[in-house]
Amino acid sequence: MSAVVVVGAQWGDEGKGKVVDYFTERADTVVRFAGGPNAGHTLVVGDDKLIVRLVPSGILRRTTTCLLGQGMVVDPAVLVGELDELTRRGLDPESRLWLSDRAHLILPYHVTLDGLREGSGRAGAVIGTTKRGIGPAYEDKAARRGVRTGDLRDLARLEQLVEQALAAWAPVLRDLGGAVPAVGPIVEALRPLAARLVPLLADTSRMADEAIRGGRGVLLEGAQGTLLDLDHGTYPFVTSSTAVAGGACAGAGIGPTRIDAVVGITKAYVTRVGGGPFPTELNDATGARLREVGAEFGSVTGRPRRTGWLDLPALRYAARVNGLDGLALTKLDVLTGLPHVEVCVAYDTPSGRTDQLPIDELDTARPVYERLEGWSETLSEARSLDELPAAARAYVRFLEEGSGVPVDLVSVGARRTETLVIRDPLKRG
Ligand code: GDP
Ligand code: IMO
Ligand code: MG
Repeated sequence: MSAVVVVGAQWGDEGKGKVVDYFTERADTVVRFAGGPNAGHTLVVGDDKLIVRLVPSGILRRTTTCLLGQGMVVDPAVLVGELDELTRRGLDPESRLWLSDRAHLILPYHVTLDGLREGSGRAGAVIGTTKRGIGPAYEDKAARRGVRTGDLRDLARLEQLVEQALAAWAPVLRDLGGAVPAVGPIVEALRPLAARLVPLLADTSRMADEAIRGGRGVLLEGAQGTLLDLDHGTYPFVTSSTAVAGGACAGAGIGPTRIDAVVGITKAYVTRVGGGPFPTELNDATGARLREVGAEFGSVTGRPRRTGWLDLPALRYAARVNGLDGLALTKLDVLTGLPHVEVCVAYDTPSGRTDQLPIDELDTARPVYERLEGWSETLSEARSLDELPAAARAYVRFLEEGSGVPVDLVSVGARRTETLVIRDPLKRG
């Protein structure tokens, strides 16, 4: 058994939920290590669909322990809502889900600030965020005035912390045309949420370490994707946390020497929600077709996702910054029916052609494409590579060779069964 990190290799929504749920069959602990309710991870079992935002994607397997790591920002109302929904489905989440007492809280003023900035139209303020308060909550964490989940144990002390944070935000709120909220109602609204969440608080770092030492399979579930990472993404059009594999250790509270493998998830094409550069974007009928066939609408905000061709330099970049050992290729079925498929293999920049991703010049760099044959066969019944049409197999091989990373898994539909496993990362370590 192993500790395996699963991260998005693109701009999020690669299918992390499906792949983590699939791998959880052989893992008994799943840890979310970063992000917050900006994430929306879709789990499909049969005809039933569930979107988790804070809860790890292992929750559907009834014997799995789910940990929310200290790298996360947690909106307590959203978490309690998710727990209620899971309880309604008979999954008994509160018996096997633990929340780090060092994660940071998203409080109502974080959500207000995020919304006011996005609505301000001011240059530099509008990112196209999910308006869930992610940026302001991580800002408070970095400014060392954050309120942590562990503070829910003592609401009198929490009240003082909120007062300090609001004193810092007051001029910003006023400048954006907002009002400074009263502290009392914020704390009162937290009271029933604290009663629900305090029993779930734990030292999740220690729990993850014990699971690994005990030889049990542990999955470290990333949120967002490499190109949205605060350090390695298309800054400033990024999220405010770590989305790369290196962050899994800090966010889950385990050491790098404990990790056995890193799997990157990539769609067979690319999508992005929100603003920022996207060189292979298709603003044409093919892009619209990918959006329609791939049901590319945000799972959190419902926004239409931007769509485009696969970007190999970006995938090589993700392979490098995450140290990917394997890829999980999702949504290959969505390409069925296209007469041909294009893949960006290099970029033309003012300083010449490069096969690297010119991450800070994406607005001006021009993608260089290679055209591959398409296929018309439905893929959802295939259960091994041999059962894929030759052109689809060639596409998988092209992607492996171009990225330098072997494909461990191919997904040909949203359901668990619609999956081809080539190598199981949990059996590799
Ligand atoms: P995540 O945020 O990375 O977990 O991805 P999302 O859940 O936001 O978006 C991925 C979407 O694609 C979801 O609606 C999944 O149910 C769906 N999906 C995942 N894998 C496949 C696949 O191989 N084929 C198809 N057609 N849909 C898939
Ligand atoms: P999952 O885990 C896709 C994007 C937003 C915006 C930028 C910053 O489901 O893949 P934020 O609210 O984080 O401050 O927004 O990041 N974004 C995502 N895009 N999938 C996600 O999560 C995302 N989480 C944030 O659209 O461009
Ligand atoms: Mg998503």
